[in-house]
Amino acid sequence: MRRLFSYLKPYRTAAIAAPLLMLLEVAADLIQPKMMAGIVDIGIANRDLAYVYRTGAGMIGIALIGLIGGTGATIFSCTVAANYGKDLRGGLFEKVQSFSFAELDRFKTASLITRLTNDVTQIQHIVMLSLRMLVRAPLLAVGGVMMALSINAGLASVLLISLPLLGVALTLIMSKSFPMFTVVQKRIDKLNGVMRENLTGARVVRAFVRSGYEKDRFGKANEGLSKASLRAVRTVNLTAPAMMAALNISLVAVLWFGGIKVDFGTMSVGEVMAFVNYITQILMALQMVAFLTVNISRAKASSERLAEVLDAESSITGPAAPEGAPGEGKVEFRNVSFCYEGASGDPVLKNVDVTAFPGRTLAILGATGSGKSTLVNLIPRFFDPTEGTVLVDGTDVRDMDLAGLRASVGMVLQDPVLFTGTIRDNIMWGKADATDEEVTEAAKAAQAHDFITSLPEGYDTVVGQKGANLSGGQKQRLAIARALVRKPRVLVLDDSTSAIDMGTEERLQAALKEYMRGRTTIVIAQRISSVMDADEIIVLEDGEVVARGTHHQLVEGSEIYRDIVRSQLGAEVV
Ligand SMILES: Nc1ncnc2c1ncn2[C@@H]1O[C@H](COP(=O)(O)OP(=O)(O)O)[C@@H](O)[C@H]1O
Ligand SMILES: [Mg+2]
Repeated sequence: MRRLFSYLKPYRTAAIAAPLLMLLEVAADLIQPKMMAGIVDIGIANRDLAYVYRTGAGMIGIALIGLIGGTGATIFSCTVAANYGKDLRGGLFEKVQSFSFAELDRFKTASLITRLTNDVTQIQHIVMLSLRMLVRAPLLAVGGVMMALSINAGLASVLLISLPLLGVALTLIMSKSFPMFTVVQKRIDKLNGVMRENLTGARVVRAFVRSGYEKDRFGKANEGLSKASLRAVRTVNLTAPAMMAALNISLVAVLWFGGIKVDFGTMSVGEVMAFVNYITQILMALQMVAFLTVNISRAKASSERLAEVLDAESSITGPAAPEGAPGEGKVEFRNVSFCYEGASGDPVLKNVDVTAFPGRTLAILGATGSGKSTLVNLIPRFFDPTEGTVLVDGTDVRDMDLAGLRASVGMVLQDPVLFTGTIRDNIMWGKADATDEEVTEAAKAAQAHDFITSLPEGYDTVVGQKGANLSGGQKQRLAIARALVRKPRVLVLDDSTSAIDMGTEERLQAALKEYMRGRTTIVIAQRISSVMDADEIIVLEDGEVVARGTHHQLVEGSEIYRDIVRSQLGAEVV
């Protein structure tokens, strides 16, 4: 919570100015009824027109001052709120950037989006409201009570009954509505989740003709949200009738007893008028307090969700004193085991002992789900091993500078993600200051240069969202070029050639040998043909290394490997 407040600091001055200016408006509101009473009791009663004019002019002047105060407060509070929201969003975004894969899995994309948009808006709104009303409402209520007491203490005792009653009613309503708003926020998450999944998977939904099912799912989430909102808003709206009841009963009482007092001559008509005004102001101020409380309780749900993000510590951070000197990219897995957080059952990796040497290619072969991606994700510390160590050039990756480590590992992930921008932008994503030669060189090695130059706009072709205007194989080759352009010490290709035809793949492998000369290449593949030429092949099965060696050694010595070869290339090869 305190973290959320700290974002107000830069706007301290304006945040203090807003309520101060509000004081002017409160003062004006409180003085006006008294002056009005003067006009009735002195001006009109004595037919003193000059007094009426003078006081009238004074009232206009005071109203203007109040207006200036109110406007100023609004301007300052809106400015503070807008800037606060901007900074808060920025802070959250930065925090999310620091998250490791584990936190991203935990918080879910849809929920992070709701938090960064809807929840921030709620908080921003409450900051604006608070700056205007948090000072104004209580002051107006207390000031109103004091003014009422100063006019006629006896009549003010009406408030002794109506105020506590209203207070109890409002407290009850608030305590009921708060948990309801927490539910509303959760339902928004849910709706965003369904929406996001539907949009990102739009093609699959169409292909499987699952629109009906998706509509149902969305309909349910949509209805869930509207029901929750209705329930919460209905409860909160009970404040209005409670308020009006208290106001009307008080007014009847004041007019009744005030009338009697006027009859007895212990109170003037102007005083009763002023009294009515003050009572109205007091109750209005209380309603403002109720309104604020509702909004604060709503914002409380949001603020907790934001604090959760801001307080989450990335489970993977770099060490204070990094070690390790740049080498050629030797990667060692020493007795590595790994379990995903919260997953039960067998570990995904079991006692893996593998070394990838510079100047050589290590290939990892295995069925889907055997743990290949998990294994290579440990190198740039997307996750840390549960047991054992991963070393790059002899240093435990946990002791290395995190950014430096990641910069030295070129990862081509299983699902290549491209960003909106030109092809050149996408390649330069791997190295912001790459020269044109470096970009072309990387593209050539990735076997992407030819198809890029055949496009009408060449390297300046704009890539659609997520690379929609490119084929799967083209996307994979761009992703490879993006990883190559930074000349990584270690290159990891996670099933990155699955959509590339065999001829192109052969050329790619030859070019990579040249490009990665003296450095380390790790290739994950399903096809035997993709790994045959590797210097060492390891076969993973359920997270265990079940065979290792060169293609020839494995064909000779491993039954499992022979099975794979037979199933892919036919019996005659073996
Ligand atoms: N983020 C994750 N959280 C929990 N389990 C995961 C996660 N990613 C993968 N797994 C599980 O780990 C196992 C290995 O997955 P993975 O390394 O992706 O296999 P491969 O790349 O060989 O197909 C699978 O059983 C998969 O269900
Ligand atoms: Mg995989």
